[in-house]
Amino acid sequence: MQGVEPSAKVWAPVRPPAERPLLMLAPMEGISDAIVRDLLSSLGGMDLCVTEFIRVAHRPVPKKVLLEACPELKSGGVTPSGVPVLVQLLGGDPALVAQTAETAVGLGALGIDLNFGCPAKAVNGSDGGAALLRCPSRLTDVIGATRARLPATVPVSAKIRLGYDDPDSVVELAKAVEAGGASWLTIHGRTKVQMYQPSADWHRIRRAIEVVSIPVIANGDLFTPEALTRCQGITGARAFMFGRGAFRTPNLFRWARGFDHGPWSSEAHAGFLINLAERIARSGYRDPERTALNRLKGWVRAWADGDEGRVPLFDTVKRCHELPQLLAHLRPLAERAA
Ligand SMILES: Cc1cc2nc3c(=O)[nH]c(=O)nc-3n(C[C@H](O)[C@H](O)[C@H](O)COP(=O)(O)O)c2cc1C
Repeated sequence: MQGVEPSAKVWAPVRPPAERPLLMLAPMEGISDAIVRDLLSSLGGMDLCVTEFIRVAHRPVPKKVLLEACPELKSGGVTPSGVPVLVQLLGGDPALVAQTAETAVGLGALGIDLNFGCPAKAVNGSDGGAALLRCPSRLTDVIGATRARLPATVPVSAKIRLGYDDPDSVVELAKAVEAGGASWLTIHGRTKVQMYQPSADWHRIRRAIEVVSIPVIANGDLFTPEALTRCQGITGARAFMFGRGAFRTPNLFRWARGFDHGPWSSEAHAGFLINLAERIARSGYRDPERTALNRLKGWVRAWADGDEGRVPLFDTVKRCHELPQLLAHLRPLAERAA
């Protein structure tokens, strides 16, 4: 469309009509790399995705590192099927984060997402991620500095948990995010200390939605379209993020849109995993076959988490020492379709 800024690609889906919610792929370090973003977005149904977190500590992140984390920057900041990719930064120093964001935007990033939700000790020990949830004004400062450094057309979003240890702090945190000038906010409905238990608290996401005027993306435990509908009912949100659900059920976006009527058949799922393994094995990772082997074990485990019938497959593949050995267990499943 003539006269539309490139970042309109990102802005438009974030204020979706009620009947067609925004669906975004969650950042998942060690899982949702550019290969996975490409494969999952090519299936259809996904509006937006984001890189795994890029840590900003001690110095601004160089271009090379940004391009490695987000190779999509070389082709307009979108996946090969055209889904916009936000660049996610994690850090507590406003100036360093802002400078890195500026570099990323200079390379073509369509939007910047700031991570204030990562609970990992290594990250929090170095002053980033969920550690900042203890001090809401620090979120305002990091977001504000980043916002100030970028063209107004480029969105800056933030991703938080409900709080550090108190889930009620989500209200104050959401206000702090809005005060920093964030374009929208993603909330994972758990505190940092809760890690991944108990279930995500969608009611508290609603409380945050009630106190801010920026769009809020609801996140946490959206494993099925039915969960999405319940979350929509409780939160009133129009935008949702799928993380482990898409890891467990790669066609979750299609299923949620009604393009598919349930999780894939074993044949389709196994075929997807073989394709993924082959892509990783041909990639520029330092030890691509080993990376493919280890990552595939994670994908099969996630499959078994959602489908008890796949537990024996996981018990078998977790013992594989070489990629061809693992693929030999998947191939007969995939070939049943042929
Ligand atoms: C293995 C793994 C890696 C993750 N890495 C990131 C990350 O890089 N950045 C981030 O903001 N959140 C990260 N998260 C959190 C997810 O984006 C998401 O908020 C969380 O998993 C809850 O959503 P879900 O229930 O749909 O999985 C990660 C989660 C997992 C399981």
